[in-house]
Amino acid sequence: MTANHSNIDINESVPVQEPQRQRWFMAKCRELVKMREQELGRKLTFHDQTFGCQMNFKDSEKLNGILEEIGYVPTDNEDADFVYYNTCTVRENANIRVYGRLGTLKTYKKKNPDMIIAMCGCMMQEEEEVQKVKDVYTFVDIVFGTHNIFKLAELLYEALSSKRRVFDVWEKTDMIIEDLPSDRKFDFKAGVNIMFGCNNFCSYCIVPYVRGRERSRRPEDIVAEVEKLAQEGVVEIMLLGQNVNSYGKNLDEPVSFAKLLQMVEKVDGIERIRFMTSHPKDLSDELIEVMAASKKICRHLHLPVQSGSSRILNLMNRKYTKEQYLELVGKLRAAMPDLAITTDIIVGFPGETEEDFQETLDIVRKAEYDSAFTFIYSKRSGTPAAKMENQVPEDVAHERFDRLLKVVNEVAREKNARLQGRTELVLAEAIDEKDPSMITGRLSNNNVVHFTADSSVIGKIVPVVLEEAKGFYYLGRLSNG
Ligand code: 5AD
Ligand code: SF4
Repeated sequence: MTANHSNIDINESVPVQEPQRQRWFMAKCRELVKMREQELGRKLTFHDQTFGCQMNFKDSEKLNGILEEIGYVPTDNEDADFVYYNTCTVRENANIRVYGRLGTLKTYKKKNPDMIIAMCGCMMQEEEEVQKVKDVYTFVDIVFGTHNIFKLAELLYEALSSKRRVFDVWEKTDMIIEDLPSDRKFDFKAGVNIMFGCNNFCSYCIVPYVRGRERSRRPEDIVAEVEKLAQEGVVEIMLLGQNVNSYGKNLDEPVSFAKLLQMVEKVDGIERIRFMTSHPKDLSDELIEVMAASKKICRHLHLPVQSGSSRILNLMNRKYTKEQYLELVGKLRAAMPDLAITTDIIVGFPGETEEDFQETLDIVRKAEYDSAFTFIYSKRSGTPAAKMENQVPEDVAHERFDRLLKVVNEVAREKNARLQGRTELVLAEAIDEKDPSMITGRLSNNNVVHFTADSSVIGKIVPVVLEEAKGFYYLGRLSNG
C-alpha cells in the first residue's frame, strides 16, 4: 500500500522539510532503479529479515513501503538486489543470530556485486556493534539506527550514487515524521505506533538506550491514521508502544491512554482494538473502566510481571511489589471476568535465590496467566544489572527456566480450556498452515482457533463453535446459527 507521489519535482533542489525531503529522495532513487531495471531487463528486488518485537516489525513495514515506492519488488529470496536486516538486541542470542545469518549474504554478494546490504534497528544503536560491522562485515553498505528509519531513501541514494558505505546512526531524536509510505503485511489488521521509546530504565533492559526517550504521537494524527486504515478495510488495530500506559504524558496538551482508546473506538469500521505493552505501574483505574465498558477493546492484556519476588522487582527497578501486581490482577479480573492476561518473566536475574524463584512460580499460579513468554536473564552491557554482583550461574538459570515453563504450561492449559463448547467471534486470519481445509484465526482474548471454513472468511469476524480445547489452541467449526 504505497501512495503515489510522482508529482515531486526532482529538478528542484533538495527540500529541507520532512517528509518532502524523503519524497524527493524516493523520486531520485526511483530514477536510478529504473535505469538499472532497463540494463538488467528485470525488476529489482528487496528482501527483509526482521528480528525482535512488534515495534521492529512495524518499522519494517515502513521501510518496505519506502522501498516499494522506489520501485523495488518484495521477494522471499535472500539473494535480492537490496537486503536489510532489522535487528534486535534485547537479549544476547538475538545478536548471535544476526551475525550467523549475515555470513550467507556475503556469498550472494559475490555473485551479485551490485547487491546492497543494509543493517538497522536496535543493535545498530550500540557503538561496539556498529564498529564490528564497519571492521568485520565490510560487505554491509548501509547502517542506520532506530531513530532515522524514515531516512532510508536518502541513505540509499547516497550509497547508490557515491558507491561508498553509508553509516548514519543517531544517538537520540525528538522527531516524529508523519505521512511516509508503509507496506502492510495484512489487509485486515494493522499495527499503529502511538509512542516511541521508553523512560522506565528497568535495570536489565537495553531498550531505553537504543530506542531513546518516550515520545507520543499527537492523538489527532493517530486517529487520522486509524480512520484511513478503516477506509482501506482494516477491522483490527494494535496500538503499539513500549509502555502504552504512559501515553500522552509529554504532549503539549496531555491526553491519557484511556482517552486515546475512547477516541479510536469511535472510528467506524474498526471492530477490534488491541494494544501492547502495558507496564503494571502505570495501569490506571480509568483504563480498566474504559476497557470494561468497551465493545471493541479486546479481552486481552499483556502485563509483564518479570518476577514474583518483590526484592528482585525492586532490583529490577519495576516500581511495584508482588502484592501490588496481584491486586491489580484482582481488579482487572473483577471488572472483566473473561479477560486473558499474558506476561513476560525473566529467570536468573542477578542475585535471584531459590526463594525468589519460588515467588515467581507462586505469582504464575496466582495470576493464572493464559500464557507467558519466559526468558533467561541476558546480561546487556551498559545496563545497571550487568554490573550487579551475584550473577546467577547458567546451569541454575536453565534449571529454573525449565521448572518455570512446566508451571506456566500447566496453568495455561487449564485456562485455555475454559471456552470449550462456546460459540465465540473469531477474526479469520489465514489458511491453516498444517491443514489447508481449515482457517486459522484469533479470539478477542488472543487465543488461536483452527476451524473448518473456506478462505472467503479471511479478514472477517465470524462466529465459531469452539469444539475442542487443545491446550494452546481450539479446534472449531463455523457456526451456522
Ligand atoms: N534478559 C532477559 N530478558 C529480557 N527482557 C528484556 N531485557 C531482558 C534481558 N536483559 C525481556 C523482558 C521484556 C521482554 C520484551 O524481554 O521480559 O518484557
Ligand atoms: Fe525495557 Fe522496562 Fe522499558 Fe519494557 S518498560 S522496554 S522492560 S525498560
